[in-house]
Amino acid sequence: MKVLASASDTYWLIDQLRTQGKRIGLVPTMGALHQGHLSLVQRAKEQTDVAVVTIFVNPTQFGPNEDFQKYPRTLQSDIEQLESCGCDLVFTPTNQQMYPLGHSTFIEPPSVAKDWEGKIRPGHFRGVATIVMKLFQIIPAHVGYFGRKDYQQVAVIRAMARDLNLPILIQACETIRETDGLAMSSRNRYLSPSQRARALGLSKALKMGQTLIDQGCTSGQTIEDAMRIELTKAPVDSIDYAAVVHPDTLEPVESIDGPVVGIIAARIGNTRLIDNATFIRG
Ligand code: PAJ
Repeated sequence: MKVLASASDTYWLIDQLRTQGKRIGLVPTMGALHQGHLSLVQRAKEQTDVAVVTIFVNPTQFGPNEDFQKYPRTLQSDIEQLESCGCDLVFTPTNQQMYPLGHSTFIEPPSVAKDWEGKIRPGHFRGVATIVMKLFQIIPAHVGYFGRKDYQQVAVIRAMARDLNLPILIQACETIRETDGLAMSSRNRYLSPSQRARALGLSKALKMGQTLIDQGCTSGQTIEDAMRIELTKAPVDSIDYAAVVHPDTLEPVESIDGPVVGIIAARIGNTRLIDNATFIRG
């Protein structure tokens, strides 16, 4: 496995591999890797010839009061995990490499970025879209792998790829969970044992949503109310949103007559967690 920090070295290596006819799979990450990230690498390995992972804690997607400074940085262990799961290339740029002095061009995110995370974290998707676009330029991959765990993020990247005619297929991969249901996240390591127990409220609320669908419920509002009750029971400390939305537009659905997605963002102590699930009538 090669580890490169230089954007131009990385670009030219990928260029060479493409000339040899190799298909490139790209997995952008911010490091602090867990099984969720590794599942994306696994998928890239299955579907393409060269699995490339990027590790970069992107400052432009963090708000001024967010956890950029304290975001976990575990590069050595990340590299070891990637090595043992058969990753081919890791790109680990510095801030200076990605945002040199004078950098001032940003991507205006698509409309699907407007609500939910976009509303609560102003500028977040501008930062995500910009860094992902830059990574796509440095690593011109055939397929980009993203986790459904960040449901709105996948929608934003898909829309950006469509709107800007990016020659890359965006592949959304399922959320990997701990055995008790907690969605894996780099931020879970902020949780104390008692907070970790309360964090189960998110996945429990989503299970409740699916149960209501199974029972024939067709009201988005009823499901939202039930999800909020589960979150309050946990209890989480605050709810940023709990909603039932259309899978593509992410607009709230009042009367359910097809697949919908339950989306939740809640805070436990200083930790902000998100989760979602697609509800399908059986
Ligand atoms: P990060 O939070 O490190 O996540 C990297 C990728 O792993 C994302 O596509 C995310 O959805 C996916 N992922 C995280 N937890 C997962 C889980 N439990 N199951 C499956 N996939 C999971 O998302 C980002 O980084 C950044 O915004 C990035 C796209 C790298 C841009 O900076």
